[in-house]
Amino acid sequence: MAGDWMTSRRLINVRVQGIRYEAEDIFTFELRPAEDTALPSFTAGAHTEILMQDGLERSYSLVNPQHETHRYVVAVARDPQSRGGSKFMCDTLRPGQELQITAPSNDFELDESAAETILIAGGIGITPIWSMLQRLQQINRSWKLFYTARTRKRAAFLAEILEVQSRHPGRVHIAFDQEPQAAGLNLETIVREQPPGAHFYACGPAGLLKAFEMATASLDPATVHVERFASEQAPAPGGFEVTLAKSRRTFLIPVNKTILEVLLSEGVEVSRSCMEGVCGTCETPVLEGIPDHRDSVLSRREREANKMMMICCSGSKTSKLVLDL
Ligand code: FES
Repeated sequence: MAGDWMTSRRLINVRVQGIRYEAEDIFTFELRPAEDTALPSFTAGAHTEILMQDGLERSYSLVNPQHETHRYVVAVARDPQSRGGSKFMCDTLRPGQELQITAPSNDFELDESAAETILIAGGIGITPIWSMLQRLQQINRSWKLFYTARTRKRAAFLAEILEVQSRHPGRVHIAFDQEPQAAGLNLETIVREQPPGAHFYACGPAGLLKAFEMATASLDPATVHVERFASEQAPAPGGFEVTLAKSRRTFLIPVNKTILEVLLSEGVEVSRSCMEGVCGTCETPVLEGIPDHRDSVLSRREREANKMMMICCSGSKTSKLVLDL
């Protein structure tokens, strides 16, 4: 089953060209095509899924400028709580090793028409943000960066960012929250001080994103963009019925299963990746019923519309859902 699904995605063979110590517990990995071909193009904010051993796969933002197609660069923070992904990348991967990755996709797309773009990054959340900043510079748009890391030593791309700061005084704001005289980012103030119509992008740990969501709650949702690393919510319980409109099949979702788990066990092939509501791959149109949204992908507006759902983690508030599958 997984094989059929894998072949429906575009996989690329790459070789690890180099691994660089970027900051404390953070490494960058340069991936080049294993064959003599260009890699698919991508846009700032895009990510690729890296296929690892035992069916494990993890999504990483591309940090290099989007005009580069001879290589992809990803940065990975070694997480002591790793469920395998960062351990594989940081402890076992070696230069020269070949890997399979997916063609990049982008759920955190930059609106290049915005008059002002505010970039907010916490820790390793700098990865898509740094790619965006490089793009905004390339197309000469107005931007500001607010970057927080625990300490100077743990701040990835700090040298490059300080170099940008020296060329654009007043646009880069860096806060180290575990250093003497630390002053964190006050997101309420940062958001309040920006001109109307500015677009906001944030990526970082859950606490920062929660503060960001609160600070931007009154803004037009179309101007607020968030990228998450991991799901903050438990999957919704089952206990409802799902009908697939195209195949006219109906399934009962048991209390301890997700819709996706049931569909897969019944031989229904559905695109999927993270299995925890953060990548958007399993997004499915809803024709009837009200989903119990548990993902971190849909915007507030999209959730309220109840037209789409992530079936790997979301459930149902009604006794029955009809999906366009
Ligand atoms: Fe990633 Fe569902 S598989 S959101």
